[in-house]
Amino acid sequence: MTSTGDSLSVDHIARAKTAALEAIGKASSLDALKEVKIHHVGDKSELAKANQALGKMEPTDRAEFGKVIGQAKTVVADAFDDRQGVLEKERDTKVLIEERVDVSIAARRTPKGGLHPLTVLTNEICDLFLGLGYRVAEGPELEAEWLNFDVLNIPADHPARTMQDTFFIEPLDSHLVLRTHTSPVQARTMLTQDPPIYVICPGRTYRADELDATHTPVFSQVEGLVIDKGITMADLKGTLDYFARAVFGPDVKTRLRPSFFPFTEPSAEVDFYFNGRWIEWGGCGMVNPKVLVACGIDPEEYSGFAFGMGLERTLMVRHGITDMHDIVEGDIRFTQAFGTGVK
Ligand code: FA5
Ligand code: MG
Repeated sequence: MTSTGDSLSVDHIARAKTAALEAIGKASSLDALKEVKIHHVGDKSELAKANQALGKMEPTDRAEFGKVIGQAKTVVADAFDDRQGVLEKERDTKVLIEERVDVSIAARRTPKGGLHPLTVLTNEICDLFLGLGYRVAEGPELEAEWLNFDVLNIPADHPARTMQDTFFIEPLDSHLVLRTHTSPVQARTMLTQDPPIYVICPGRTYRADELDATHTPVFSQVEGLVIDKGITMADLKGTLDYFARAVFGPDVKTRLRPSFFPFTEPSAEVDFYFNGRWIEWGGCGMVNPKVLVACGIDPEEYSGFAFGMGLERTLMVRHGITDMHDIVEGDIRFTQAFGTGVK
């Protein structure tokens, strides 16, 4: 066997093989092994170059050298694969140790929020009335003065309009107020829809009352309004009984006490009997024909009833809450006590 220069001597091939095996053996990481591959195993390695040089050899020598180079390449490739296998195993073991999760460690829990009991009650009431075929109607909390008062037959000199009860918005000639009740939503509905009307209107309301055990300046009401042919006070009473039983349980009793609201005629306070006493729940009555006319509804053809209840008071009675502060302060422990935490 003859040599065709340095790159194709048997010695040279043996040295290239030894160098490759040594480098493979020394590679202590997969990254290092990758480097070794470029210099000793890949297309640019000495052995690959020797292989390319075979083409220029005499055919007789080509077979001989080809065999030597082929064997060297196989030995190197096998050593490389073995080393790679060992290093991969080492890496996997290391990852398993480093990324180990101790499932026995106590988990840190992030406290979850919860729906406020008022929201839960509001949803409950809306669902109840949706089941009776009502729609939910809503209106703005910042309301036009004429919708909060005038259209509801509350005249300019009515005590409810004075600075004591109502939050007026500056400048005063904006004629905007924070709505004092949900009744303007009745008016908005009647002004924009033709009867028959069956709506339930939940929402936040505002009055210049001090926060105490039974009052809050920001509270919630739910208004009901029905306008149809032949609606009577009996329909109102039946609806309120159904409502009260759904909220307070099947044994609750209700009564209507004569009262006055400018927008209903006749008007009544609705009370319910709960835990041995009568409790005022809200106001109600037959929609005053003056209001029907102001909203473009013919009182000769249609009649209707309306009611409006305070939701904080409803909640207080139903759950034996004695202080309004608990409802408005937003302490999560209060919300969770009702079992309304969002899971
Ligand atoms: C009204 O607001 C009438 N709009 C109700 C109505 C509607 C009558 C439809 C007829 C037809 P009143 O001012 O009584 O009524 O308030 C109704 C309820 O709101 C009260 O019974 C009470 O439960 C609640 N409420 C009133 N002021 C407060 C307050 N400061 N804090 C908590 N709840 C209140
Ligand atoms: Mg009242």
